[in-house]
Amino acid sequence: MSKAVTVSRPRRLRGTITPPGDKSISHRSSIFNAVANGTARVTNYSTGQDCASTLRVLRGLGVNIDAKPSPDGNGDTLTVHGAGMDGFREPDDVLDAGNSGTTTRLMSGLLAGRPFQAILTGDASIRSRPMGRVIEPLRQMGAEISARKGRTLAPIVFHGGSLRAIDYAMPVASAQVKSCLLLAGLRAEGRTQLRQPAQSRDHTERMLSAMGARVGSDGLTAWVEPGELRPLDMEVPGDISSAAFWLVAAAIHPDAEITVRNVGLNPSRTGVLTVLREMGADFEIRGERSVAGEPAGDLIARSSELRGVEIAGDIVPILIDEIPVLSVAAALADGKTVIRDAAELRVKETDRISATATWLKAAGISVQESNDGMTIVGGARLKGAHCQSFDDHRIAMSLAIGGLVSDGPMKIEGAGAADISYPTFWRDLELIGGSLG
Ligand code: S3P
Repeated sequence: MSKAVTVSRPRRLRGTITPPGDKSISHRSSIFNAVANGTARVTNYSTGQDCASTLRVLRGLGVNIDAKPSPDGNGDTLTVHGAGMDGFREPDDVLDAGNSGTTTRLMSGLLAGRPFQAILTGDASIRSRPMGRVIEPLRQMGAEISARKGRTLAPIVFHGGSLRAIDYAMPVASAQVKSCLLLAGLRAEGRTQLRQPAQSRDHTERMLSAMGARVGSDGLTAWVEPGELRPLDMEVPGDISSAAFWLVAAAIHPDAEITVRNVGLNPSRTGVLTVLREMGADFEIRGERSVAGEPAGDLIARSSELRGVEIAGDIVPILIDEIPVLSVAAALADGKTVIRDAAELRVKETDRISATATWLKAAGISVQESNDGMTIVGGARLKGAHCQSFDDHRIAMSLAIGGLVSDGPMKIEGAGAADISYPTFWRDLELIGGSLG
């Protein structure tokens, strides 16, 4: 991930982009079908490295998955030969989740309480991210698990145990924790019930239900009962978290019109659209349809006059991954933007509050960090700067969007991190007129 890239401001931005398949839905499509009874075909599976990490871990457990690139280069086609709920085989090596938190946390739910031992780990970032949030409730369910630093950090060792349902009040609004425990609940005795402090993305509930699981939700409570899964063929819709970069690029550039095709519009992911609308961004949604039980559509975004807003409370979990790029919009908006209730950003691939504040300051923007967010004073011009992605994909791509409007060139160290969720990002940047050095 050491590649450095320089982005300079083009005169205009025009074009049509098809973002990669949604990362969250891709992970779930391979993981859930891996424990289903039968074979499923998944199209437009994300080509990002994180989703490849999930396939590596599943194969390490003996699951047979065939992945082929599609001829247009947008998305892979998978054939997943489901092993059934009890079909995993003891891995003969450590399972490597790479940089992927979703792989680590969701697979923990499926590795807990197996009649064999498995060790799950990942890169330096994964080994520093909090895993106690899944280990603790899985242990309450009866799983025997050990891990570094008082059972809080990977590598995580699963030693077996037998699972029983719990009624659990989740301390954080996390779709990864919720999904981990719902998956464990599929093999636990009784009805597992999870009380969430706020709504997070619901792809797991939707997909498990489409696969025949007894799963449901009532307000902030999600529940599941044990059972088998039917395989589910699906087309993964495009990733709104990837589309967000182009929506912000169009909004902040003075001469822009960008179309982003086939974007997933699940309401538990569209917080970024709500906030951009409130900031005054000019965009429209066309061709709304349903893809794999998820709403989807095309977005057309144009140059806009933005104003600062407050981002806080229940909307935060449904736009958490978009805060780094919304911060670029905030820097170019008129007035102040205050971000609160987003302490989770400090435990993502990197500390995204610190990483964002660091680069915005280097680019001449006034930013004040707080424990759970930051205040960004908009309205100044962005200067070119020499900045670090901290090997975080969303920071690397946010820096590039800043470079599309900065007065001097933006040099981005660690630009290759974009491959984690969006390997065609740099190609797409050039496609709409961005210039790379
Ligand atoms: C994800 C959930 C979010 C998000 C991550 C993907 C998922 O994490 O930040 O990129 O696929 O479930 P948390 O649920 O831990 O907040």
